[in-house]
Amino acid sequence: MTRKLFVTTALPYANAAFHIGHMMEYIQADIWVRFQRMQRDGAALREVHFVGADDTHGTPIMIAAEKEGITPQEFVAKIAAGRAQYLDGFHIAFDNWYSTDSPENVELSQGIYRKLRDTGLIVTKVVDRFYDPVKGMFLADRNIKGECPVCHAKDQYGDNCEVCGAAYQPTELINPFSVFTNATPILKPSEQYFFKLSDPRCYQFLKDWLNTPGRLQPEMVNKVSEWLGEAGEKLADWDISRDAPYFGIPIPDAPGKFFYVWLDAPVGYLASLKNYCDKKGMDFDALLNDPATEQIHFIGKDIVSFHLLFWPAMLKFAGHPVIDKLKVNVHGHLTVNNEKMSKSRGTGISPLRYLNLGMNPEWLRYYIAFKLNSKVEDLDFTGDDFVARVNSDLIGKYVNIASRCAGFIAKKFDGKLAATLSEGAQGWIKRALTTADGTERQASIAAHFENREFGKALKEIMEIADITNQYVDENKPWILAKDESKLSELHDVCTAALILFRQLTILLSPVLPGVAANVATLLNDAQLLWADTDVASGVVSSAMLGRTIGAYTHLMTRVDAKMIEELFDAPPAVAGAVAGAAAAVAVAAPVAKAAKAAKPAPVAITETGIEELAPEISIDDFVKIDLRIAKIVNCEHVEGSDKLLRLTLDVGEGRMRNVFSGIKAMYQPEDLVGKLTVMVANLAPRKMKFGVSEGMVLAASAADEKAKPGIYILNPWPGAEPGMRIR
Ligand code: 2FM
Ligand code: ZN
Repeated sequence: MTRKLFVTTALPYANAAFHIGHMMEYIQADIWVRFQRMQRDGAALREVHFVGADDTHGTPIMIAAEKEGITPQEFVAKIAAGRAQYLDGFHIAFDNWYSTDSPENVELSQGIYRKLRDTGLIVTKVVDRFYDPVKGMFLADRNIKGECPVCHAKDQYGDNCEVCGAAYQPTELINPFSVFTNATPILKPSEQYFFKLSDPRCYQFLKDWLNTPGRLQPEMVNKVSEWLGEAGEKLADWDISRDAPYFGIPIPDAPGKFFYVWLDAPVGYLASLKNYCDKKGMDFDALLNDPATEQIHFIGKDIVSFHLLFWPAMLKFAGHPVIDKLKVNVHGHLTVNNEKMSKSRGTGISPLRYLNLGMNPEWLRYYIAFKLNSKVEDLDFTGDDFVARVNSDLIGKYVNIASRCAGFIAKKFDGKLAATLSEGAQGWIKRALTTADGTERQASIAAHFENREFGKALKEIMEIADITNQYVDENKPWILAKDESKLSELHDVCTAALILFRQLTILLSPVLPGVAANVATLLNDAQLLWADTDVASGVVSSAMLGRTIGAYTHLMTRVDAKMIEELFDAPPAVAGAVAGAAAAVAVAAPVAKAAKAAKPAPVAITETGIEELAPEISIDDFVKIDLRIAKIVNCEHVEGSDKLLRLTLDVGEGRMRNVFSGIKAMYQPEDLVGKLTVMVANLAPRKMKFGVSEGMVLAASAADEKAKPGIYILNPWPGAEPGMRIR
């Protein structure tokens, strides 16, 4: 039976460009897909359909469009138009990229809903929903933040916790607040539609589904089992409706109600597949009903509850034909230097900047693949490690083989490989491609790719490269080439090395599709399939012997370490600090010190004991200092510093700022989180020992800190909102 694979990545929200975390997931899925596309089941090539889409619905996108004065449809179209440069740039070969705001998704989502309703799994309840009394609208889960009811992490969204992964209702948040106005939301009654996850049928199904061997990673089985409880008692009904105004799909027979975005988002996987089938003249229903079809989702660990509870239950009770062959592969997050990526801390990597710097996308594919395994583990990007890994493996081991041997074939043998091989050469080929116990390495490498153990696959591939290089080193074709009597030896060595190089290329081709295509051209291969790596059949050598190959052209350059310095997001450039600014406001002195500010002149004290006023400034001087209300969304100790706290500040720019402040002696981080304060928002970012500080919070202190210790940050009166300017 020919396997038919329907593969997806998580559908990204259509409110921002891709970040490097998206690219990591796409690279993981794309490698797996490319590996699958090279496989034959019997005579036929495996059938793989790899689709994606933008996740378009929900309040944040509605609000973002409103802010720009355009329709949500126009807004998501703008985002969608920017996708190809990333996908093409990193060789991500989706068959189709679509949208959840599509007729297919409306039809499929409403169809699934109707089936769930007919099965008795939809109930309505009048519930209190959060309402922002200042903005005058019901608040979506993501518009409410507060403390996680499970792990007590601060500043978590109303639907699930990014720290512990728990899913909950926004009403369960501790100390909730509206992200629009900061107001404490009030509860207003509203009739809502629920998916009855508490129904015993759901528990029974999920328990069996989760525990089917080979379906989920063991750590995921454990996690979701916890969410199920002993007998499903922890499964709560899931509110799938939202009140107008809402950018979403109308709930049938429920005027003014829309599906919550997470109801129709995963249905978008099916909508994209259906759209693709229609475009290709394929029968969507027949594909889903085919017993050979498997459905595979690649997702991140932060959205597990939606994919391992709600989605399979929805599919099951809507009678989805592929439910028994549904697999969800969960990956960890990408960290940079073992820290969560943050644009404002200068640790973010922009995928577009990577490409614009002229960095080779296949370097990143290789590096990510090398670090990936089948576990739900975070993957760390470290600049030095990246340079060393790519240069050592791809340039020093892999490309090195062709660059040392291919030229001689063109120069000395009219581009023709030898027609036969010496026994010695055959022995090296066997040694490189089989382990001591006779197992073919390509078979274990294939198993690693299939099981998403990409790091293991690449390590084994590099072992083949090591043995091949050892062979070339020992036989030194560049010496043989100088001696006319050694020409047939030269031919033998270069042919064997290129046979192994071709083998390496095929094995690497899921990871390095661009290089593999160039090598295929060089070696005159129409297509590279996994079957070509089969050692026992003899095809590895026989396919190459006597073949004419093209002229060698350079395949890949080394990573220049300097590129890495330019790769990281520079903290956004802001206007330089204003002369006199430090004197005009009371600043957190240790911050200024740590930032190596010019040493302030000793301060004069007046008769009343306060610091003498700074020289007079004009209003024009004052307006150069941009003071803003900032919300302290996070605050933490700084390891290794006894003075500083690290503040994550929101000044309404749609990004967070990282600011260090020397207030540790006065405040506990947890006391500050959620509070408003005042910051200098246009101070030039300063690189400090612990990271980049992007501004300064205002704080008052006495001139003589020894006599009167204490440093006090400012707290605006109620009504002030993040981003408001202080004039
Ligand atoms: O977390 C996210 O980015 C969601 N947009 C993922 C949705 S995946 C699927 F369900 F559509
Ligand atoms: Zn939590």
